[in-house]
Amino acid sequence: MASASRGQWSGKLGFIMAASGSAIGLGNIWRFPYTAGENGGGAFVLLYLIFVALIGIPLVLAELSVGRETELNPAGAFEKLSPGSKWPWLGRLGVLTGFAILAFYAVIAGWTLWYLWEALTGAFSGEITPEVSAQMFTDMTSNPLLAIAFTAAFILLTIVIVQRGISAGIERTTKILMPLLLVILVVLAVRSVTLPGGMDGVKYLFTPDFSKIDFPVVMSAIGQALFSLSLGMGAMITYGSYFPKNENLPQSGIIVAFFDTAIAVLAGLIIFPALFSVGIAPDGGPGLVFIVLPTIFNSLPAGGLFAVAFYALLAIAALTSTISLLEVVVTYFIDEKQWPRKKASWVLGGLCFVVAIPSALAAGGSQFFTNFLGFGIDFLSLQNIFWGNYSLSIGAILLAVFVGWSWGAPKAIESLESSGIKFQGSGLWTVLIRYVCPVAIGIVLIYIIVTGQYF
Ligand code: PFF
Repeated sequence: MASASRGQWSGKLGFIMAASGSAIGLGNIWRFPYTAGENGGGAFVLLYLIFVALIGIPLVLAELSVGRETELNPAGAFEKLSPGSKWPWLGRLGVLTGFAILAFYAVIAGWTLWYLWEALTGAFSGEITPEVSAQMFTDMTSNPLLAIAFTAAFILLTIVIVQRGISAGIERTTKILMPLLLVILVVLAVRSVTLPGGMDGVKYLFTPDFSKIDFPVVMSAIGQALFSLSLGMGAMITYGSYFPKNENLPQSGIIVAFFDTAIAVLAGLIIFPALFSVGIAPDGGPGLVFIVLPTIFNSLPAGGLFAVAFYALLAIAALTSTISLLEVVVTYFIDEKQWPRKKASWVLGGLCFVVAIPSALAAGGSQFFTNFLGFGIDFLSLQNIFWGNYSLSIGAILLAVFVGWSWGAPKAIESLESSGIKFQGSGLWTVLIRYVCPVAIGIVLIYIIVTGQYF
């Protein structure tokens, strides 16, 4: 279990790239825009920003401190900080959640590869009506072999990178992909905002209509903040466990949260101006980037290029996130079961592919998984509710309680300051992690249990 054999980020920058890569994903570029579009635009964005500050950043720092202090996977970390207690089960739940999220996230990530392929082969260059676009989407997602093959391809890409290790695999890859992602984002956002009528989309995103704020909007904003920052399942514990002792951890964590948020907003600046410029409503739901966007590429100048760049962006963002999901599970098996990294990556990645098959068949590929057990809900959405909503919320609440009360905020602060640099704002952080995080997420959890709604 010697830390030397586990590997480490080469420095702050390597960590920031990798952790931003984890945070920035489908959650930012696919989920954030459609969630904002369904929840009234600016009002949602404002709440989201508030919750990133009040809940997201405190939890990022809490997870990172646990990881760096112990240099262990989530289960091992809780065992080390609270020997003989039940807390390691929270870590095991996190590892399981990472595995389960990867098993449906990779399916949607597979769609992005397919769309990238379609864009490259010019499928979006002619005029595409909404009906044709919806049909294209259904044809792809309901084709069992295609859906499974693209899921497999995505998991394979993930394994190939993770098996190479922290600095040679993850850090090296994210140091190339994240700057590339940023360039594509900025170019597309500038293109989109300067379209005729594009400013209406910008206004939609930044002008809060307070009458739109109700509890479901608040809940969606909190849920989005958790998911987007990869919180509640130990991803940040895991990435924090490879953080060098002599570097400034709070600063790095805050930078990651800032990047994640900025990129979600930038994704909004690509999508809404483009929609508004051709007069399409922003509340298209989960199909927004897969069904609605293809109908407008043709009317945008250089739309073919726009399409290629956009789906490349989506695939890159998804890949740096699936890497972190698999890494949580792989780190656990390296630390706790002494598996070599290569074995852990291939075996667990392979297993995850098998578990992903029902989700890959849940968008029409199999009637059984599309209308799972006759409940009128598909298997993939069910996985998202179970793991992406319940498990992440429970994980985040318990983590806040552990760090705030059980291990204790003063010890966590000591760990956050172990590089010798003072953590400004530690008093405020203590209040947020002890009271605001557990109470706010607790209310959301009760609400989703009682109403059956989800974020
Ligand atoms: N943060 C990722 C996104 O926004 O797409 C999703 C995610 C990745 C959640 C890794 C949890 C995680 F551990």
